[in-house]
Formats: sequence, structure tokens, C-alpha cells
Amino acid sequence: MKVLVVGGGGREHTLAWKLAQSAQVSKVYCAPGNAGTAGIATNLPISDNDLPALLRFARDNNIGLTVVGPEVPLVNGIVDEFEVAGLRIFGPNARAAILEGSKVFTKELLYKYDIPTAEYHRFTEASKALEFLDSNKTYPIVIKADGLAAGKGVLISLTKEEAQQGVREMMEDKVFGLAGDEIIIEEFMTGPELSMLCFVDSKTVVPMVSAKDYKRIGENDTGLNTGGMGAISPNPLYDNELEAHCLEHIIEPTLAGMRKEGRPFKGILYCGIMLTEAGPKVLEYNVRFGDPETQVILPRLKTDLLDIFEAVIDDTLADLEVKWDQSAAATVVLASQGYPEAYPKGLVISGLDQVKNSVVFHAGTAEKDEEVVTSGGRVLTITTRAATVADALTTSYQNADTIHFSGKTMRRDIGS
Ligand code: AMP
Ligand code: GLY
Repeated sequence: MKVLVVGGGGREHTLAWKLAQSAQVSKVYCAPGNAGTAGIATNLPISDNDLPALLRFARDNNIGLTVVGPEVPLVNGIVDEFEVAGLRIFGPNARAAILEGSKVFTKELLYKYDIPTAEYHRFTEASKALEFLDSNKTYPIVIKADGLAAGKGVLISLTKEEAQQGVREMMEDKVFGLAGDEIIIEEFMTGPELSMLCFVDSKTVVPMVSAKDYKRIGENDTGLNTGGMGAISPNPLYDNELEAHCLEHIIEPTLAGMRKEGRPFKGILYCGIMLTEAGPKVLEYNVRFGDPETQVILPRLKTDLLDIFEAVIDDTLADLEVKWDQSAAATVVLASQGYPEAYPKGLVISGLDQVKNSVVFHAGTAEKDEEVVTSGGRVLTITTRAATVADALTTSYQNADTIHFSGKTMRRDIGS
């Protein structure tokens, strides 16, 4: 079977790498892919959000399965369009992808079905949000743009002034465009975080092994939020009891609620959870694999990923045993200087051929004059599988030190 992976980051390189290992897969295409996917797949000059071009390519080239990495095409209805055309595609349709596409929708759903999450207020007018802040006494407070904002639409404001500025930027200056037409202001929670990812078909949920993402740019969780600067699997805080609790109180009621709302979900459900003193609470839902969580989860998967994707599409997940390796995994992100704000591109990367005992998943790279150059904020993710997370990290950091590009930025405390 020929498969098409939509997207061009570290997550998509990992998906392509895993799918290429399947005996059933004859060829992998990536749209648009990166310098890393070029080594194992054929990159296509098609953007991950050019739905008509993706559809045309899949139809004209007899693609047996399309797998979508990023959220934007899912929220924009790529699954709906492929299904109408009779093409097989893995992921939620637009009605279900709203779980990530609208934070207001998700908060209302969580409250309606009694699923634990932070208290919140929603606003469509800046003046009303500012009035609310005037009367609010507790800070920090969390401000979120309703729509998609490339992971940047969440502000944690330490003071009223900061919160006011955040509201103005989102609602008046439109820094996130239409995504900020509506906002929510929610209670600030504290506690360790957990990324819980599940394979979901119309009837069955299969949780993946756990992971922990390191979201801030700076060590000791300081500085701006990023897409993720590293990840480990398993998450040391996770056990069978916590998994059962989250399934019963969070994941299953969410999926049942979506069915009741006429929005049945299938694909990957990624729940960001905070382990508060009052118990696990939902931070957010994503409707796709996490990046860089995928880089530590999929290397531990023993079952053929293609079989899992097919089972989800056919609603036969209950009949498949999803098996995991008992080893651990870690990944360290090498980012461009300045990320998550402005950063340079086109810098030559050296040392990739010196890497030993790790897999380098490319995130923001491109090929130029037969060299690999930087082309994104997160550039590379160095993944290692080993008996323990600590061993995996040691190897990932050794390899991270052998790779060079100007301004290479990483956190030295992944795993802490
Ligand atoms: P989200 O995109 O909603 O997951 O938010 C990004 C990050 O912001 C989360 O991983 C948390 O670290 C933080 N965050 C979001 N909502 C809250 C909240 N209500 N309280 C504390 N931290 C939060
Ligand atoms: N690592 C966080 C995300 O993929 O949303």
C-alpha cells in the first residue's frame, strides 16, 4: 500500500518512519515533509493545508491511506473531503475536530458532561472581559483564544495589568486573527502535567503509553511556552490506577458526550491533563498526535501502526491487540535561537552523520545545495530508546552535542 503523511514536522517524520517499517507499506509520501523524511519517503511540494492538491494527489496516485499530522487541516475538514471522494484517511472529521478547534466548545462540553476542568468565563467583547478582570481578585489567571493559534493562544497572566494587555492583544489587536474573536478566562491551576494519547474508533478507546512534554523554552519550566522542547515516556507519575481514573472520569465521558452531540470522534485523542490537588483536570484536547510526544511514544509501539490506523477507520479496534515495548524513550529538541519568537533560517547543520544509538527526527529542516539547513523553530529531535529514561537521555544528550548549527538551543533538564 502507498501511504501519504500530511505535515512536515518531527511528528510527521516519526509517523513516516514508523509506517515505512510496516511490511504492508510499499511507499511513503510526505506533504510537504522535511530533509529527514526525504531519506525514507518521497516529499511532495504540497502544503499540509492545500486540501484540493492533497486530494488530487491521493486520488491520482492510488494512495491507500492518508494520515494527517497537524490540527489545521483536520479542523478545516480534510477528513470530510477525502471521505466524500471515497478515499481512506485517518483522523477526526471537522465536526469532531472542533474539540481542538474551539476552546469554548470544549469547555462547554466538559461542563455539560461534568468532566473536571478549570472554572472559566467566556467573552465576545473586550470591554466585558476587561470589566471581569477589574472585579477579579485572584492572579495568576489564564487567558485563551478560542480558535487555533499554533499553540501560542494561551497566556498565563501574573497580574491584572498583564491580563488586560493579553485581552487587548487578542480581542482588539487580533494578534491571533479570528481565533481571538472569542476568548475564555479561566482559573489558574497548579500541578504536574500529563499528556494522555489514545487511539479511538467509534466504539473503543486504546490508551497509548504515557508521555511527559516539556513545554517552556527555559530550564526549570521558565520562559515562553513552545510546542515542546523534549519529552519522555513513560511519564513517571503515570500508573494503571491513574490511567483507569482518567479513562473513567475524563476520556470516556468526553467521547460519550461527543456522540450525544452528534459529533462522534475517531482518530487520535490527546488530552492534556493537570494533576491538581483536587484530582486530574483537563487542560485541553488535541485531535492529533503530540509533537514531540510522538517521538517517544511510537518508537515503543510493537504493533504495526498501519493495522491500528486501518482498525480505527473500520471500527475494529476492539479486535486488535496493541502491544508496547517495556523500554523507555526520551527525546531532546534542538531549536533555533530566538524560538518561540523570531528566529533565523537556512543555517547549515553538521554532525548528523556522527549520531550513534539515537534516531534523529527532523522537525524544521530543508535541503539546500546538498546540505541540511534549518528551516523552522524546532529543528531536530534526538530520540533514544533504552532500558530507562535516564539512559535514554544520556545518549540523546551525547548525540545532541555532536550536532551543530549556529544558535543551537536546547534544554538540558529534559526528564527532570
Ligand atoms: P493548552 O494549550 O491549553 O494546553 O495550554 C498550554 C499550557 O498552558 C498547558 O500545558 C499548561 O502548562 C498551561 N495552562 C493552560 N491552562 C492552564 C490553567 N488553567 N492553569 C494553569 N496552567 C494552564
Ligand atoms: N507537545 C504539545 C502538542 O503537541 O500540542
